[in-house]
Amino acid sequence: MSTAPKADILLQVAMRAEAQPIIDRESLQSLGAVAPHCPAQAFTNTVAGRNVVLVAHGADPLHNCDRIGPIGAATTCAAALARFTPRLIVNIGTCGGFRSRGGAIADLHLPQRLAFHDQRVPIPGFREFARGEFQTPPAEALRAELGALGGLCSSGGSLDATPQDRAILDELEARCKDMEAAAIAFSARDWGVPLLVLKCVTDLVDHPEAVQDAFLRNFHGATVQLANATSVLLRSNNLPW
Ligand code: ADE
Repeated sequence: MSTAPKADILLQVAMRAEAQPIIDRESLQSLGAVAPHCPAQAFTNTVAGRNVVLVAHGADPLHNCDRIGPIGAATTCAAALARFTPRLIVNIGTCGGFRSRGGAIADLHLPQRLAFHDQRVPIPGFREFARGEFQTPPAEALRAELGALGGLCSSGGSLDATPQDRAILDELEARCKDMEAAAIAFSARDWGVPLLVLKCVTDLVDHPEAVQDAFLRNFHGATVQLANATSVLLRSNNLPW
């Protein structure tokens, strides 16, 4: 493992295919594994005078696919926080949108609030812990600079949504649905590091088409859009630090 740089900005991306357009565009160089016994991979460069580190969750050694979802998100984030001690974390990735709340494919989101829709513990004291509601730092100017939407992003371990998930997503008035943001927020909160979440819509949760079909069709376009928005964010004077 190479010498640990300290990061100004830590970009956390679940899938290597989501990360690659950012790695290419910012000429990020590989640092190898984030930590021993951890599949997550780190890449770095200096961008606009800022030390930027991108971590991708890496491939699960048993199933040989990207370690997407909340478990990979929290474990990767904890390892990256320990190694890179960033000033700011930005979670970047694709998400589902909601046409009932005005959403469309390719919308960009920079949510103000995060939560979980599939963690349910109906026992006093644990309900709120499981729901995991979290506020991101104020970033109105950055949201305007990126042309991104605000609102709530809800995370869960599944790409699809059960009727009960859908009811909770509606109760939360979620504008986007992902599989990582609220889990990263847990680790970020422990370390007192501000977290921004940048998402691009590949599919609409409340559309009759199977989520995986829309996701696969719109995935590449979303990754290009995320790389463009990340380029603006990395050079922005409107970061919340
Ligand atoms: N990423 C892209 N689309 C998603 C969805 N509908 N749910 C969770 N994560 C996603």
